[in-house]
Amino acid sequence: MVICSAPGKIFLFGEHAVVYGKRAIACAIDLRTSVEITSASGIHINSVFKDDPDKNLYIKTAIKKVQNYAEVNNINISVSSKIPVASGLGSSAAVTVATIAALNKEFQAGLDNDQIAFLAYQTELEVQGAASPTDTFVSTMGGTVIVPDRKKLPPITCGVVVGHTGIFKSTSRMVSRVRGLKDRYPEVFENILNAIGQMSERGEKLVLENDYRSIGELMNVNQGLLDAMGVCIPELSHQIYAARQHGAYGAKLTGAGGGGCMVAICDPDKCKDIADAIGRSYGDSFITSPTAEGVRIE
Ligand code: PMV
Repeated sequence: MVICSAPGKIFLFGEHAVVYGKRAIACAIDLRTSVEITSASGIHINSVFKDDPDKNLYIKTAIKKVQNYAEVNNINISVSSKIPVASGLGSSAAVTVATIAALNKEFQAGLDNDQIAFLAYQTELEVQGAASPTDTFVSTMGGTVIVPDRKKLPPITCGVVVGHTGIFKSTSRMVSRVRGLKDRYPEVFENILNAIGQMSERGEKLVLENDYRSIGELMNVNQGLLDAMGVCIPELSHQIYAARQHGAYGAKLTGAGGGGCMVAICDPDKCKDIADAIGRSYGDSFITSPTAEGVRIE
């Protein structure tokens, strides 16, 4: 029997812009998806993603990818997860990464973490049609990562609060909305996307200096540009302003937008006040911690 788990993530900077090759910074958070493999006859999948049976597609495609390295058969795969589905917190990447790592261990496929991240990215591309390597890379490596450079920095050490609108969002719909605007106003969007990429560049230095006040300030600027790109909704704005009004260093949506989640960073002492304020403004909220640990064998 093998159990592997992999974390979810938040974006500090760069969602959407990363689709066009700009830099993004993402942090692994301490919400994990676990995949357990036991012996069986044939291949069976038993997933607790009850509200999203499509998660099995990620698992089936991940199996196909590992079958290029080892003979995978006669297993039962069970999935359990603390990461809300379709919320921008990287649940698809986490289930994919944990499945590949568990198969790798069980069938001694000899994959290292770079290969696990790559196969997970290929799996997301095949299932979703489009994806950046952000979610799969951060879920494999943990900590704070910069893509497309594939650099790993230490985890941030400030408080992190997530607001969950509970509104279903579709990443592909949001990505095509941005693409439509960008095609109509290419000269305007070039500046917006470049500015976001520059925030990630500056953000790398700020992360290394633990300068959370400045990171928060730039997250607010990034949020303004995400709003300009048409991916924010009023419910996310309510949560974002509530977090800022209660002392967050910065707050923005995380992931594709159009629903899903926002993230605030703050002094750890302020987490509870901010989480309460977000919860009063709309939806749910929870306090989470950044984690250095990516995929791991349990
Ligand atoms: O909401 P998520 O976790 O699917 O993140 C989407 C982030 C985008 O930049 C919009 C797309 C991508 O694949 O990076």
